[in-house]
Amino acid sequence: MTNSSDLNFDDLQALLRCSHKNLKDTCFLLLNIIDADAAKQWLNSAPVSNAVLTDPPPNTALQIAFSVDGLRALGLKETVIDSFSDEFIFGMSGDESRSRRLGDVGANAPEYWDWGGDAAQVPHMLLLLYAEKGGIKAWRETVQGKQFLKAFKLLRELPTLDIGDIEPFGFIDGISQPRIDWARQQSTDSHERNRYSNLLAAGEIVLGYRNEYGQYTARPLIDPKQDLVAAVLPDAEDQPNQKDFGRNGSYLVLRQLDQDVPGFWQFIDKASGSMAEKREQLAAAMVGRQRNGAPLLPPASEKIPGIPDDDQRNRFNFDPDPGGNRCPVGAHIRRANPRTGDLPPGITSWFTWLIRFLGFGGKPDEDLVASSRFHRILRRGRGYGPVLPPEEAIKPDAPAAERGLQFICLVANISRQFEFVQNAWVMNTKFDGVQQERDPLLGHRKPLISGEVTDQFNRPDPAGPKHITCHLPQFVTVRGGGYFFMPGLRALKYLATLPAKGSEISS
Ligand code: HEM
Repeated sequence: MTNSSDLNFDDLQALLRCSHKNLKDTCFLLLNIIDADAAKQWLNSAPVSNAVLTDPPPNTALQIAFSVDGLRALGLKETVIDSFSDEFIFGMSGDESRSRRLGDVGANAPEYWDWGGDAAQVPHMLLLLYAEKGGIKAWRETVQGKQFLKAFKLLRELPTLDIGDIEPFGFIDGISQPRIDWARQQSTDSHERNRYSNLLAAGEIVLGYRNEYGQYTARPLIDPKQDLVAAVLPDAEDQPNQKDFGRNGSYLVLRQLDQDVPGFWQFIDKASGSMAEKREQLAAAMVGRQRNGAPLLPPASEKIPGIPDDDQRNRFNFDPDPGGNRCPVGAHIRRANPRTGDLPPGITSWFTWLIRFLGFGGKPDEDLVASSRFHRILRRGRGYGPVLPPEEAIKPDAPAAERGLQFICLVANISRQFEFVQNAWVMNTKFDGVQQERDPLLGHRKPLISGEVTDQFNRPDPAGPKHITCHLPQFVTVRGGGYFFMPGLRALKYLATLPAKGSEISS
């Protein structure tokens, strides 16, 4: 068995291991490369943060990611680019069918985005800068250095603002994250994974390692005999005669999501007859947690692998609550991570699972929800806009302002992880028996072609008929987005030393 000592944390960008939550000030920059040689010189000495943990932690951090056009602008060969995933190559806004699946229709449609909406003009590079309170200006000057203005054109500085641990609607965020199995101790064999585990194979988030299928996700490999510069890259674990451009890198999904905070709280207030307690209950049911992060289910009696015993906020799954009496099935956290194992709850063996899968013995409205472990994401987003507490937001004259989330997640497979969660779980109008609704926070509310509504939110009540909240407006609107690749540090060096176009070094 391989262990964590095989993992070169000094080759991983730090964001894969820490959220930089101690660094409150941020500056997210979207750039185009205008002079490839100057950009490579800058990259060569850029103080990119690695994932080695230090005590105390650093007081600044820098992470870098590229769109496919950014990699092209630096001179990465098309033969290498071809081995990236199709989603990355075609981009988030690249085709109508993808936009439809992601829910990027109506007000969310790429044509209305502030950036990234035209797949032909997705920014080349994303720089994420983090610093301690008050330190971001100085850090930005240090990072930019001399070559910067020659190398890059600043397309956009994304809004960010430290609003503490909450997201703009006022809920504590960033509580539940998969725990990465850096030590590679957990089996990925389906027969040993009947129940939900929060421990996730490293290869689900980082390229070049085994994923939850026990396989290596496709990524660009380079033959060092054909490309001498590739000597700087790590060896491919599964094909040692190849150099691995993907190893220690990850795909980074960025979506700028505007949140209508007054609209959210005013709707909930009205739907709750302006009663404070009912308002909190409805809002908590929509999220699946209370505002202080407390879950709606009591802690599970059994230990959940990957969740420390003292972390009561995450020690639950939904097995004891199949009908959603405590946490509605359509709640945001339940859709985003149904906490399922490989066997659906109530099924104890693969034989009974097969019988149910073939359509016998199940409830008529039961949809089998796919196993969570193949669809986890590592969230690294940051909020923006002035804080507006719910008590202020419900007032008719609540100040409007740009507020929202720079949603960021890291994955090894964009389509199986981010796109699946967004499409099959968050935006789906049929989810685990729930119908006529999409995610109560994120969903657009366009009816289906058949005319069926999608703007409800159902809460079962064991004491009587279920509560149906109707005519939910859209609370979250997409303002921009793109798929990026966040390389390992050695891959960054490779990019920085690529020969200028037309002068390629090969043996
Ligand atoms: C403005 C948009 C969003 C808001 C306000 C929001 C809010 C929240 C909140 C309050 C939580 C609970 C706290 C926690 O467990 O960390 C949460 C959890 C989560 N969200 Fe979101 N979220 C947003 C967008 C998204 C998107 C776009 C996705 C993915 C497509 C997503 C996926 C998740 C996941 C996976 C969890 C953890 C679920 C769990 O493991 O229990 N969220 N979100």
